[in-house]
Amino acid sequence: MNPGLAHCHPYPFEKLAQLKQGAVPPSEKAHIALSIGEPAHPAPEFIKQAIFEHIGGLGTYPTTKGGLALRQAIADWIGFRFSIPREAIDPETQVLPVSGTREALFSIAQCVVDAAEKPIVVMPNPFYQIYEGAALLAGAEPYFLNTTAETGYLPDFDAVPESVWRRCRLIYVCSPGNPSGAVMPQPQLAALIALAERYDFIIASDECYSELYDDESNPPPGLLQTAYATGNITFKRCLAFHSLSKRSNVPGLRSGFVAGDADILKAYFQYRTYQGCAMPLPTQQASALAWQDESHVLENRRLYRAKFQAVVDILKDVCTIEKPAASFYVWLKTPISDTDFARQLFVRENVTVLPGSYLSREFQGINPGLNHVRIALVAPLAECIEAARRIKDFFSTLN
Ligand SMILES: Cc1ncc(COP(=O)(O)O)c(C=O)c1O
Repeated sequence: MNPGLAHCHPYPFEKLAQLKQGAVPPSEKAHIALSIGEPAHPAPEFIKQAIFEHIGGLGTYPTTKGGLALRQAIADWIGFRFSIPREAIDPETQVLPVSGTREALFSIAQCVVDAAEKPIVVMPNPFYQIYEGAALLAGAEPYFLNTTAETGYLPDFDAVPESVWRRCRLIYVCSPGNPSGAVMPQPQLAALIALAERYDFIIASDECYSELYDDESNPPPGLLQTAYATGNITFKRCLAFHSLSKRSNVPGLRSGFVAGDADILKAYFQYRTYQGCAMPLPTQQASALAWQDESHVLENRRLYRAKFQAVVDILKDVCTIEKPAASFYVWLKTPISDTDFARQLFVRENVTVLPGSYLSREFQGINPGLNHVRIALVAPLAECIEAARRIKDFFSTLN
């Protein structure tokens, strides 16, 4: 067996199922699930239509590299979204389609980490669970960057000892962040790129929430945008991971991309040919169209904005709550332990939220997920409002 497996934690939703075991919620209240980050807004019709129209493509083995039409659409989108001249991104060498970013965030570590070097993989804490599993199964040691209210829920790169940077092979960053929705400002991304250059490590920037932001005039900056703007015009050591799952409400399509450093992508392409995760042709066709359309994404943001507004208005009297800069999560402090909060909320109000400690680890004496819950505003507006009212009632019983 891969020895890393023994260190992998059960997935948060397994822990949640255990927590809820034996708990009986009130039957007169319909269940509202705000635990899993699965978008529930309707998938755009044109994406579904494209799948139907190109269904005949199922008769052909797709290539690992994906068709040029898709890679071109992705390169165009990167250029448009991140203010990078179109000719600066080569769809032949700097873009690879992936079957959802989850598999890619995992497999990049398997590709770039050499376990014999006793490498470290750095990641935020709390974090998207794939980063840790990817590091462990690649034979690396995870090193966590605690993100707390004091750090603005962002990693503090200055707090990392030089000895760690020296052994660092790969760092995962997540901006906008899951679970906090915090956005890394461009100077911080630039500082990270400078560190990567100095200590020769790779940055895997998970940007799957980059299109779900509050302020239309201020979209979250990206890693490639920052690299280009600071003179790293070949995106050396930089990889950005983007997904259609949240942007376009198609988590089941399994479609995303990785883009950036052509040298890394060359090796990663070779790795992927063996892993065998090529994107089916109907998915490629639908994805190319999705990256070319912004109107459905604009509408998506409008829907999330309305939900945040309503939920914050209801809850602000009973707890400290702020609209995050981006994402569809509320990262809420709890007056009792996060696991007690989640279980009791379920028992009293039939609302499921995710305990923050299921997304974090204790590191250097701090567990930044403790006494927080993650509330995913994925349900329709009316359900989110109903859930917020029930959470408010629940808070009143705690005070
Ligand atoms: C931070 C983060 N990254 C990546 C993903 C993976 O998304 P997908 O595999 O659907 O592209 C998720 C999904 O929840 C996520 O929350």
